[in-house]
Amino acid sequence: MEIAITHSEKLKSKPDEASLGFGTLFTDYMFSMDYIPDKGWHAPRIEPYASIAMDPATMVLHYGQGVFEGLKAYRTKSGQIQLFRPRENLKRLNRSSRRLCIPEIDEDFTLEAMKQLIAMEKDWVPGALDTSLYIRPTIIAMDPFLGVRASHTYRFFIILSPVGAYYPEGFNPIKILVTADYVRAVRGGVGEAKTPGNYAASLLAGEQAHEAGYTQVLWLDGVEQKYLEEVGSMNIFFVIDDEIITPELNGSILPGITRKSVIGLGKHWNEKVTERKISIDELINAHSDGRLKEVFGAGTAAVISPVGQIKYGEQVVTVNDNQTGPVAQKYYNAITDIQYGRAEDPMGWIVPVD
Ligand SMILES: Cc1ncc(COP(=O)(O)O)c(C=O)c1O
Repeated sequence: MEIAITHSEKLKSKPDEASLGFGTLFTDYMFSMDYIPDKGWHAPRIEPYASIAMDPATMVLHYGQGVFEGLKAYRTKSGQIQLFRPRENLKRLNRSSRRLCIPEIDEDFTLEAMKQLIAMEKDWVPGALDTSLYIRPTIIAMDPFLGVRASHTYRFFIILSPVGAYYPEGFNPIKILVTADYVRAVRGGVGEAKTPGNYAASLLAGEQAHEAGYTQVLWLDGVEQKYLEEVGSMNIFFVIDDEIITPELNGSILPGITRKSVIGLGKHWNEKVTERKISIDELINAHSDGRLKEVFGAGTAAVISPVGQIKYGEQVVTVNDNQTGPVAQKYYNAITDIQYGRAEDPMGWIVPVD
């Protein structure tokens, strides 16, 4: 499919790279295409960034039939722009779509469209330390209809947002709260899909955690509320003795690409990385026995986020004296060095944009 391009008459001014936040600024152009049953995905186009006009009855607004992704483009020291494992995001987008009854996109074509959009917007990819261009591919159900069924028509779009360092004050441990009052996802639900409802479901517990002075919620499984699942918008890892443990994928955990990268690197380095069930009781006992060495989250936004404190009911677990541990630091350095082209890419994870 040929991508139609409409140029903008007036370009926005670029932001100051030193004061970039997250998700507030958008570039000049976006990519879109539409789906109707007779034509499939069609009319791919790059156009000036603009609002989407919608009938108030548009199905995504009522029943949440939508999926999205989040990945980043990085500027290397020599000025090249590169993506980190973008095919994994497009595969996950299609897996999410299957769960939400949304027609799949062609991954190869969509990757080319993404690259073309970013190449057009290359001046928007910041070069300051730890900054990047966040990429948000999204699919929404477009039928104007108030009955509950899968939509017949869809819109796919990609928008881009220059983002700053996730840690303006440095790479410091966060505090997380285990909630016993709410669950994020249940067996057979949509937890493993990247779909808006999962995030809406997490907001109240997140607000309560913030009020109590915690950064994010550590979710327990929705069936027994016993096994650890994931944190806010990250997967979670525990270092107990010499074992690096992450909860096994069970249908309710989002299969993170950073999680997959930590596991891949750990195996490449012959470390003992295990995907298995881990209960809150095992975590608390390992801490009491002095065997819990480190805890860290893993996700695109922060890459690796050390955890310094976990609260569960009245129990407070302080991890590694609230300091960043060597395992979290090593994975953070290794992954960001690959993303920013400061190190070789032994795993073949980098896809250049131009
Ligand atoms: C709920 C949730 N879990 C985990 C992750 C980490 O996934 P990734 O490493 O692909 O960013 C994210 C972020 O996308 C998320 O939203």
